[in-house]
Amino acid sequence: MTAAPEPMDIAAEDPDRFYFYCRRRKAEDSAAEILTGLRQMPKSIPPKYFYDSEGAALFDRITALPEYYLTRTEREIFRKHGEEMAEAAGRGRMLIEPGSGSSEKVELLLDALKPDVYVPLEITESHLLNASRHLVSRYPWLTVHAVCDDYSDGIELPEALPDGQRLLFFPGSTIGNFEPDQAARFLKHLHRACGDDGAVLIGVDLRKDSDILTAAYNDSESITARFNLNVLDHVNRLTRGNFEPRRFRHSAFFNERESRIEMHLESLESQRVTLAGEDFHFARGERIHTENSYKYTVSGFRALAGSVGFRPRHTWCDPNQWFSVHLLEAG
Ligand code: AVI
Repeated sequence: MTAAPEPMDIAAEDPDRFYFYCRRRKAEDSAAEILTGLRQMPKSIPPKYFYDSEGAALFDRITALPEYYLTRTEREIFRKHGEEMAEAAGRGRMLIEPGSGSSEKVELLLDALKPDVYVPLEITESHLLNASRHLVSRYPWLTVHAVCDDYSDGIELPEALPDGQRLLFFPGSTIGNFEPDQAARFLKHLHRACGDDGAVLIGVDLRKDSDILTAAYNDSESITARFNLNVLDHVNRLTRGNFEPRRFRHSAFFNERESRIEMHLESLESQRVTLAGEDFHFARGERIHTENSYKYTVSGFRALAGSVGFRPRHTWCDPNQWFSVHLLEAG
């Protein structure tokens, strides 16, 4: 991470309101992590590798699909209860959003929450820069400290951030993409990052009829399939690999016992793939596990948050109880 904030040259009149920090991950770290997952049985690729710029763009398209109810349902909850959330969370807190993507959701709450400072943390630099520039020019009262970094192993914030009470914002049910022990660890990171007088506003998808869940990850336009297969192109670039995506197929289903959607890439034939000089064999029908998306109950999630020291203060849901937004207090 750069030690000093770097004001960026932006289209806004006041460049003092936009700071950019970047911690570049070494390509070798990513390659080692990917190879480790592919040496295991069953083979896996961590879901964070979905998000190169193509994957991030495909994910944006997923969020607009009719079958993918998560984004629009959560958005409706923010629209309907935003003022109430701001009332409960407290206005004027510094707002920090790990995995901010294109920062669309936060816009639904900015007028209600009225933070002086917004800190988006995002691994896809193009998304981070575009979103930050947009926010700075649209909200003249807002200062943005944009951090380009991977937050999955911990939230490292720039030392130059101003003091003040913090609200961590983690929408979209990304918490569902962590294994339960990782989810607990990540909630602890949030707890540490918001401080004793801080709070977290987090979106969590809920368990429901498996047909609705399965359709959300098997859309009729096959955008989710493209999103899943795109990980192979990204892996190729990171590992000098020769995966051929057309020799795999997307598979997604609900695992009732584990209460999670599983996404896999299934090999359509027996094949050999070489990554970083190492050969990997795939039998026909063999799968690479690319993602889990856990579906919680409200009480199950509140218990998980409580187990790492949060006090669940309020939960908002849509009328169907498909999605939930929780306000968790750290103190
Ligand atoms: C980012 N995350 C919450 C999405 C999900 O629903 O688990 C990722 C995704 N995978 C396939 N479609 C969307």
